[in-house]
Amino acid sequence: MLFSVARLTAILPGMPATLSTRTQSAAEVTAFYDAHRTVRQYVTAEDGSPLPLPADHLEAILHAAQRAPTDATAQLYSLVRLTRPEVREQMVTLTTNAHIATASEAFVVCADVRRVVRVLEVTGQTPGHWPAIAVHFGIGDAVMAGTNLLTAAEMLGYQGCWIGGVMNGLDGIIDLLELPPGVLPFAALTIGRSAEDTPHRPRVPRPLVIHTDTYNNGTDEEIRDAVDIMNPIASRKGQPGDWARLMGAYFAVEGGMEGREPRLVAALKRQGMWSGEG
Ligand SMILES: Cc1cc2nc3c(=O)[nH]c(=O)nc-3n(C[C@H](O)[C@H](O)[C@H](O)COP(=O)(O)O)c2cc1C
Repeated sequence: MLFSVARLTAILPGMPATLSTRTQSAAEVTAFYDAHRTVRQYVTAEDGSPLPLPADHLEAILHAAQRAPTDATAQLYSLVRLTRPEVREQMVTLTTNAHIATASEAFVVCADVRRVVRVLEVTGQTPGHWPAIAVHFGIGDAVMAGTNLLTAAEMLGYQGCWIGGVMNGLDGIIDLLELPPGVLPFAALTIGRSAEDTPHRPRVPRPLVIHTDTYNNGTDEEIRDAVDIMNPIASRKGQPGDWARLMGAYFAVEGGMEGREPRLVAALKRQGMWSGEG
């Protein structure tokens, strides 16, 4: 792939006068993001164990995670890298996502306000009370770091999968990973070389997602059209998909999210990050 070189003038003190950066064309950027697939089956060693990433690839994706922008310079996140097979196996059970065992790399991406509290304590300051802020910016920082990591992995030819299934076993995960107060798992993230033929999955039409100046609720017809466009994402074993039904299974009354809600509230309370009543 060809790159053009742009010269940027550095504006921060102590930085070199110019930075070199490589830019890509709009078509290349679009093609890169079109190649994204969530992948759940990975190339493994012959015995089915995870195939390690070359050291420089691992270094690059971890570096990318830590280069993510961050609120208030605080870096309110932590990644727990899962290396031991028995820890991976327990995470499979707790998240009900089997590919945690076979991925080349697996992480638990956490909101983490523990470290900044330690910075305050070690430097003789008294931490304030801001549990809602902790969740807001902690999850934001965690997602930005995880997204950087996944994007870097995709640039290196890997694919991955976010795993919100951590919500199924939050309490057990906090125990297993010995997460102290102030640290809350957001999701797991697996990385590996794809061993599956994955479809390109649709997205909701842009006018319902990218709003111009004011929020667009969408007409009923636009919502129905969006459901039609999204239906293939819910297709299983060659059967036509029904995305509205899938959304119902997650988000309707007695859907999966209602089951997750009390577990998340309990974890927020346990980790000292609950700002509600009680
Ligand atoms: C926060 C988050 C949680 C997710 N949780 C799971 C999960 O628990 N298990 C899984 O197999 N896929 C999970 N996914 C992957 C989504 O199903 C996938 O991104 C979506 O179907 C769109 O497919 P695509 O990424 O291939 O375009 C998750 C994705 C995100 C961003």
